[in-house]
Amino acid sequence: MSEKKMDAETAAEAALKTSKMSTDDVNLNQPKKNEKADARERELLDLAKKFKTNDFGKILLARHSCPEYDPNVKISRDEMRDILEAATTAPSSLNMQPWRFVVVDSDEGKAKLDKIVGPANHLKVKTASSIVMVFGDRKFYEQAAKINEATYEMGGFPKENQEFLTKFAQSYFPTLSEETKEEWIMHDCGLVEMALMLVARAHGYDTNPMDGFKKEPAAKLFDLDEKRYKPVLIVSMGKAKGHGRYCSRLSLDEVARFE
Ligand SMILES: Cc1cc2nc3c(=O)[nH]c(=O)nc-3n(C[C@H](O)[C@H](O)[C@H](O)COP(=O)(O)O)c2cc1C
Repeated sequence: MSEKKMDAETAAEAALKTSKMSTDDVNLNQPKKNEKADARERELLDLAKKFKTNDFGKILLARHSCPEYDPNVKISRDEMRDILEAATTAPSSLNMQPWRFVVVDSDEGKAKLDKIVGPANHLKVKTASSIVMVFGDRKFYEQAAKINEATYEMGGFPKENQEFLTKFAQSYFPTLSEETKEEWIMHDCGLVEMALMLVARAHGYDTNPMDGFKKEPAAKLFDLDEKRYKPVLIVSMGKAKGHGRYCSRLSLDEVARFE
């Protein structure tokens, strides 16, 4: 049994003992929609109305990593907020949402970032409208109470679940090794990064995910606590100049099987 599973079970048992729930209740309660949930749904539909295309085929299948952008095209901060808001509907483990973003869109910010990116990435930093730096918050569980209360208020789960999940998150996550916490960060941040790239396409922009940057100085360079915030990936965004590279893929039989 993995360290994560064993710890999770112990923490779940401890949280269950002090809550009014039994194991059978976990996840079995049907959500009840209420006014807050309706309002949230309207907010999200308003975000979708701002998409320039809703053609999922084009959004997904015509995405190519973009080596160079039209430097004259700028994404406004309001539009970037809409893009990030839509992207953060990505799922995350226990809904902990460990992602944090620094959007670099000023000449000063780009000059700072340029110092730490690899040689292949200078042109993207120079020509992109914005570069979204994705960091993972190693103390993501500190938001558990707030997140679960908001879900409860939207009718997402009953009070007992709210209490149980909060106790669980607060007792389980701080005990994890740094390595395991970072595993959580990496899978959740990966999901939001993909969502970000797809939403950018829906807004008519192109992107390039980039791991080619020095991780060690990244947080401090942007005034973040380096012990707390793990740099995960940076994503350049703007209007592509020309066409991105066409990249091959392994055949489906090489990567998938049915059993
Ligand atoms: C985690 C990750 C890191 C990457 N880092 C870089 C990078 O530093 N520089 C770069 O030019 N492309 C980078 N890429 C882009 C990949 O090279 C690209 O996704 C891959 O070749 C497939 O091409 P496509 O995105 O056009 O389909 C990265 C992609 C991922 C997913």
